[in-house]
Amino acid sequence: MNLIQVDQEKCIKCGICAEVCPTGVIGLDENGPKAIGQFCIACGHCVAICPSAALDNAKAPLVNQIALKRVPVLDEDTAAIFLRSRRSVREFKRKVVARESIQQLLNIARFAQTSSNSQGVSYLVIDDSQTLSSITAVTVDWAEEALKQPPWAGTPYEAHLTAHIVDYRRTGKDVILRDAPCLIIPIVDKNLTVGKDNTYYSLAYAELYAPSIGLGTCITGFFDACAASGYKPLLEILKLPENMQVTGGLMVGYPKYTYQRLVDRNPLQVIWR
Ligand SMILES: Cc1cc2nc3c(=O)[nH]c(=O)nc-3n(C[C@H](O)[C@H](O)[C@H](O)COP(=O)(O)O)c2cc1C
Repeated sequence: MNLIQVDQEKCIKCGICAEVCPTGVIGLDENGPKAIGQFCIACGHCVAICPSAALDNAKAPLVNQIALKRVPVLDEDTAAIFLRSRRSVREFKRKVVARESIQQLLNIARFAQTSSNSQGVSYLVIDDSQTLSSITAVTVDWAEEALKQPPWAGTPYEAHLTAHIVDYRRTGKDVILRDAPCLIIPIVDKNLTVGKDNTYYSLAYAELYAPSIGLGTCITGFFDACAASGYKPLLEILKLPENMQVTGGLMVGYPKYTYQRLVDRNPLQVIWR
């Protein structure tokens, strides 16, 4: 495969493509850039950076890239408020989320950065209310036992989740998925060692984009831990392909309330050398 093609008439031999290539697969000679290896991670940087659209890459074709006239940069206050106002939403309207909206959300999540551009995160989306209730039920069953053992026993999680479980057993309140109308479950191949890391960046993108299409989200750590433990009753509900594993979970729905203030956090701690 001819990895790199260069339009010699357009190429100004600036060498930026080689400079930004993270794997050093592009070299330069008097004729301009050329592939000097095959270890290309298809990140698309060489094509995206070229000021004269002279370079194409078989693994990241120019035809699939969108030309940017101007990258919008939020002013510092807007950006700070945008990031700081993201909230975990746990109270949802009783309103179904159209699958098109979930598709739109995930179509942004998939652009998050991944280790060596490995990507590899797929999504199982559950929007059937009975299945969601079953997931909560089995996660509670799992948590009841798991909390008595390490690493949970004796931690603040034990007290916190035990109170939730008591609540669920008494009132049926969905303390795991919060009656969210939709659960997004990222799944990755069991051999992808960076699957969890890639997942959390993709979920961060989804969480930050969600309000722009009217949605609220919350990460489902307890569901995630239950799945990671290999709890059979949960895996029987999910029916994943043999090679895939759960690496996270995200409740999605329309927020019932609007937050009025930005919250504070612990003071910043930095060590300078
Ligand atoms: C790894 C992780 C796991 C989490 N698990 C849960 C969970 O199981 N249930 C839940 O209601 N919130 C969960 N959250 C949301 C946190 O509780 C929330 O981020 C935190 O309280 C701060 O609130 P904020 O997201 O609104 O800023 C999780 C968040 C992270 C990052």
